[in-house]
Amino acid sequence: MDRGPERAAAQSRQSNRAAGREPPAPADPDGHHAQHARPSDEDIALLDEHLRLIAGQADTVVGYFYAALFVEDPALRSLFPAAMDVQRDRLFRALTGAVRHIGNAETFVPMLRQLGRDHRKYGVRTEHYDTFGRALLTALATYGEDIWVPELEDAWRRAYHYMATTMVEGAQQAAVNQPAWWRGEIIAHERRAEDIAVLTVRTDHPYTYRAGQFASVETTFRPRTWRTYSMATGQSPDGLLEFHVRAVGAGFVSGPLVWRATVGDVLKIGAPMGELAIDKQSQRDVLCIGGGTGLAPIKALVDEMTRWNTARKVAIFFGARRSGDLYDMSSLHRMAAINPWLTVIPCVSEDDSFAGERGNLPDVVARHGRWSEHDVVVSGSPAMTRATLSRLRDLGVPDQRVSTDLAGSVHPATAHVIDLRRSRANRATSRRR
Ligand SMILES: Cc1cc2nc3c(=O)[nH]c(=O)nc-3n(C[C@H](O)[C@H](O)[C@H](O)COP(=O)(O)OP(=O)(O)OC[C@H]3O[C@@H](n4cnc5c(N)ncnc54)[C@H](O)[C@@H]3O)c2cc1C
Ligand code: HEM
Repeated sequence: MDRGPERAAAQSRQSNRAAGREPPAPADPDGHHAQHARPSDEDIALLDEHLRLIAGQADTVVGYFYAALFVEDPALRSLFPAAMDVQRDRLFRALTGAVRHIGNAETFVPMLRQLGRDHRKYGVRTEHYDTFGRALLTALATYGEDIWVPELEDAWRRAYHYMATTMVEGAQQAAVNQPAWWRGEIIAHERRAEDIAVLTVRTDHPYTYRAGQFASVETTFRPRTWRTYSMATGQSPDGLLEFHVRAVGAGFVSGPLVWRATVGDVLKIGAPMGELAIDKQSQRDVLCIGGGTGLAPIKALVDEMTRWNTARKVAIFFGARRSGDLYDMSSLHRMAAINPWLTVIPCVSEDDSFAGERGNLPDVVARHGRWSEHDVVVSGSPAMTRATLSRLRDLGVPDQRVSTDLAGSVHPATAHVIDLRRSRANRATSRRR
């Protein structure tokens, strides 16, 4: 069979018409459509099995899907980053994760709505979902021709329709009061270490977020390539955002943000995301553990606590490899000086000349007392997070008292749902700090 995407796309359109099957329709304006069109358990089992069967060819299927998408509408190529390799992997994982959780409407619907809301920043419009759905079915049919029976095709059609209509619904709801993205002008850029910068950004519209959340950021240095960075203060009255950025190797976004960005440069900023939080209702003391720029959301949470906390003791353990990487100590010391409930313990792991605490964060934290009655926030690299969560468990801290990011290299909202399969303590983040 000729598997050229152009021919397959045309064949698929033809066969759909012949079979009287309509392409996915946009959501009803009232948004109820998606709720009613939820795929059945049989559909889900069929799709799960199908994805399992084609998993070995995932890269080819996704490659074919994008080819079919861009053949049908070449203008869509301009929505995606120049390098598509990461996106390929993401899409298949997103589909697999989505199918496995499609039956769990309580978490899946909000997740898809958020995904739809956030797709606006890529320039995705309602009509694109039809093209996307056709390309997806074309690719799946082409690579599963031996097993592509009408029941399977119908199950995919229903599942995609359900996801697309829910995403469109989320996009439409958000469009009422939120821009697709905010224009953020860098008004201060401080290099605090060789590879770390603190950026202060002013947005063109009010940017409302909760302390602990993060935002997708796009720079002019790498158009259409978005990376997430945490806001490092609570919502401030002047509306300014603070970001702590560490340059990662040849990283597409972090390097330019640290080494090339300057005052006056403009960033695109997506809507806030993330669930990292300190439980306001709890009366427990709080242990915060931040590695590298993982400090950012912790500083935001504690900054926000300075507005309401009087009684709960808070300890921030801030870890870095070398003392020069403890890039925000003066700000932390200022906070501690005016808030007697706050203690800051810097520690370094690879610097024998450091006079303070030395060692890896989990070890230093373990040395400093009993934490089993504390609420705990952990933020940092995946390795640091994993090691810390494991040590906390050993120290008797119940998983449900630990808050850590759920974000992964897929859309954070998707990661949230995919993560439901794991125990809370195993929610090692894919944060790269
Ligand atoms: C929820 C969330 C919040 C985040 N918040 C922050 C924040 O506040 N501050 C911050 O600085 N970063 C933060 N990150 C990480 C940030 O989003 C980027 O992943 C990071 O800046 C690297 O992006 P990049 O485009 O520069 O590198 P990429 O272009 O994505 O990566 C380039 C190469 O470097 C490799 N690489 C990536 N990270 C590392 C690493 N740590 N060590 C070695 N190799 C690596 C990649 O595998 C790739 O091969 C956060 C991530 C998440 C998921
Ligand atoms: C059911 C439908 C869809 C699902 C489940 C889906 C899922 C995803 C996921 C999980 C990501 C990961 C990146 C992120 O946003 O964090 C993503 C990115 C993206 N999606 Fe979609 N998507 C859908 C529809 C569409 C449509 C219709 C378009 C437009 C043609 C589109 C364009 C994009 C673009 C441009 C990116 C960013 C690519 C990148 O940064 O590498 N998506 N999508």
